[in-house]
Amino acid sequence: MSFPKNFLWGGAIAANQAEGAYLEDGKGLTTVDMIPHGEKRMYVKLGDMYPVEMMEGENYPSHEAIDFYHHYKEDIALFAQMGFKCFRTSISWARIYPDGEGQVNEAGIAFYKSMFEECRRYGIEPLVTLCHFDVPMALVNKYGSFRSREMIECFTRYARTCFEAFDGLVKYWLTFNEINILLHSPFSGAGISFKPGENREQVKYQAAHHELVASALATKIAHEVNPQNMVGCMLAGGQFYPYSCNPEDVWLAMNKDRENLMFIDVQTRGYYPSYSQRIFKEKGIVLDIQEGDLDILKQYPVDFVSFSYYQSRCASSDPTLMPTDGNVVKSVKNPYLKTSDWGWQIDPLGLRITLNALYDRYQKPLFIVENGLGAKDVIEEDGTIQDDYRIDYLREHIKAMSDAIDDGVDLMGYTTWGCIDLVAASTGEMSKRYGFIYVDKDDEGHGTLKRMKKKSFDWYKKVIESNGEDL
Ligand code: BG6
Repeated sequence: MSFPKNFLWGGAIAANQAEGAYLEDGKGLTTVDMIPHGEKRMYVKLGDMYPVEMMEGENYPSHEAIDFYHHYKEDIALFAQMGFKCFRTSISWARIYPDGEGQVNEAGIAFYKSMFEECRRYGIEPLVTLCHFDVPMALVNKYGSFRSREMIECFTRYARTCFEAFDGLVKYWLTFNEINILLHSPFSGAGISFKPGENREQVKYQAAHHELVASALATKIAHEVNPQNMVGCMLAGGQFYPYSCNPEDVWLAMNKDRENLMFIDVQTRGYYPSYSQRIFKEKGIVLDIQEGDLDILKQYPVDFVSFSYYQSRCASSDPTLMPTDGNVVKSVKNPYLKTSDWGWQIDPLGLRITLNALYDRYQKPLFIVENGLGAKDVIEEDGTIQDDYRIDYLREHIKAMSDAIDDGVDLMGYTTWGCIDLVAASTGEMSKRYGFIYVDKDDEGHGTLKRMKKKSFDWYKKVIESNGEDL
């Protein structure tokens, strides 16, 4: 086993799925606050239904979530008990700038300062995402979110405020969570909703361009504020496999990968890859790239490449093949893989393949910032939660990481997703649990919010203690 000595073991959450306190201490509304649990969720997420106001009688899971806002000390103490070296979370933009711009909310700064100090007290390195599926609604209403160029300034102002306010507490930063997800889930990904009849692809890629420029400028500012700062991009990862050796399938898989990797290509290498021109042409996209944009992209690439990995994907030219269930990135069912209760395919070797492919392509340090199994947990009569399925899943993925390190991949760290149970992004459910720590709350929003250790808690503690030797 080959994990480096300073390997950043830990766990990850996001403000929008954990904090709750959605209007407390001056916080403004964000996109996710407008996305209900239940069947309307999908339409809102896809940007098909513009959520001008909340709907009567709907349950909005982000409003309370797991109330991390009031439980963070207790929760971070539990992470410390597991021996976390690193804790990934995000800052809610609308807690810092309730209107997304304008006046800074000092109470928001104070909250995050206190939370990061709490991490530091235990020697836990925070890894912080600036925008994780929660664009301030004020900016959605005023500018149509990232479809507008104004957002570059709003985002960089917000980023500077964070880099300055949390200097010395936070060193590792990510700009946009799963930047490629805006193609698949534009409202939750980037606050985008559509006007009737417009070319949606044009809107999405223009928004992506604004995010890319904003991300490069944020990287520049982070380095100016403190040259020690390390900024990463963040990809919703998972290699596409060709369904068969039919060249049509191989070609399709390559292009599906390119669709997602294009953003990371830009953030890592500093320019739009040559294949992007063909994508734009085929989709009828003419990007508005202003003077200086390409220089900015060129000058300020990221320091490292982070990604989430839940599963590999599969592409087939045969339109009759079945797609997998419940995935944001569409994929064909791979007959060689088992699936989770939510239809997500389980493929540890796919993680090794993805790590190698990304490292071959970018030659920059990699960081797995999300991985885990969403499953239904049962509390036994004696009060224990025997989540052996989660341990098995994580063990196999950690083995795959170790193999990839032996393959020569430079891997900085691993933060499992939802180290404490939280609201699922795709479905809004609480019952899709990822944590080492159980939170007493159900899909309807009822529960005491009490925290309980699962069997995997002690297992992960042992993994970290032994630096990945004892699995
Ligand atoms: C990633 C997101 O897409 O997947 C997380 O960055 C999300 O926010 C995670 O929670 C798992 O997806 P889900 O829908 O099971 O919560």
